[in-house]
Amino acid sequence: MTATTEVRAAARVVDAVKVYGGGDTAVRALDGVDVTFPAGRFTAIMGPSGSGKSTLMHCAAGLDTLTSGAAYIGDTELGALDDRRLTLLRRDRAGFVFQAFNLVPTLTVAENITLPLDLAGRRADQEWTEALVDIVGLRDRLHHRPSELSGGQQQRVAVARAFAGRPDVVFADEPTGNLDSRSGAEVLGLLARAVRETDRTVVMVTHDPVAAAHADEVLFLADGRLVDRMEAPTADKVLDRMKAFEARS
Ligand SMILES: Nc1ncnc2c1ncn2[C@@H]1O[C@H](COP(=O)(O)OP(=O)(O)OP(=O)(O)O)[C@@H](O)[C@H]1O
Ligand SMILES: [Mg+2]
Repeated sequence: MTATTEVRAAARVVDAVKVYGGGDTAVRALDGVDVTFPAGRFTAIMGPSGSGKSTLMHCAAGLDTLTSGAAYIGDTELGALDDRRLTLLRRDRAGFVFQAFNLVPTLTVAENITLPLDLAGRRADQEWTEALVDIVGLRDRLHHRPSELSGGQQQRVAVARAFAGRPDVVFADEPTGNLDSRSGAEVLGLLARAVRETDRTVVMVTHDPVAAAHADEVLFLADGRLVDRMEAPTADKVLDRMKAFEARS
C-alpha cells in the first residue's frame, strides 16, 4: 500500500467519550478516543483491565451508545439511528463473537451458522457458507449439536456464524477467553484466515499478547485513552509494550 492510498474504514469512532453513571461516582470509560478500523484488516485492542476495551468495542458496534463523539459502521453514523434502525444495521452489517459461545443447543452446527440469516429472512449464500465451513474446519460436524462439540469447535461455529452474513465488520470480545491455548490458537488462526481469504474486517478485544499477535495491528488503551499502536505485532513485542505501560503507571 502506498502512502497516498485512501484507507477505507469498516468502522471508526471520532472523539469518543463514554461516561457511566454521574456525580461523584461517574466513570469516564472512554476519554476522547479516535480510532479507525481499516477494512480488510484484523485489529486487536489491548490494555489493562478497566482501560475501556469492551466499552470501545460495544460503542463501535452499536451495542452501547457514546456520551459524546460519534461512531460509524461504514459511512453510517450510529448515533443518528433510532433503535430499530440500529438493530437492523447490527444484524445486517456486523458479526459478533463473545467469550461465551452463545450457540443454540437445540440446533445443529449448520443451523447455528445460518441462524442470523434465517432470523433476518435472508437466504444463505451457499458458496460463501461452504467456504466458511471449510475455513473453520467443521465439514464433518455440520449435523452435530453444540453439546457434542469441544469448546474450541463450538467457538469455531460461532466464528462461522459471525461471518455468515458477509458483515462489514466482525467484533470479537475475548473470543479465546474460555479456551485452552491450543484451541485458542486455532480460533485465532481462522479469524486471521477469514480476514485474509474473505477480505473481511475483524476487531478483537483481548488481554492476551499471544492472541493479539495474530492481528495486523494492535491498539493499546489505558484509562480510556488510545496510548499506542503497533503494526505487525509479535507476542514478545506486545508483552514488552504492556510491561512498559505498567512500569510507567
Ligand atoms: N455498565 C457500567 N456501569 C458502570 N461502569 C462501567 C460499566 N461498564 C464498564 N464500566 C467501567 O468502565 C471502565 C471500563 O470498563 P471496560 O469493561 O470497558 O474495561 P475493559 O478494558 O474491557 O476491562 P476488562 O479487561 O476487565 O474486561 C471500568 O472502570 C468499568 O468499571
Ligand atoms: Mg472487557
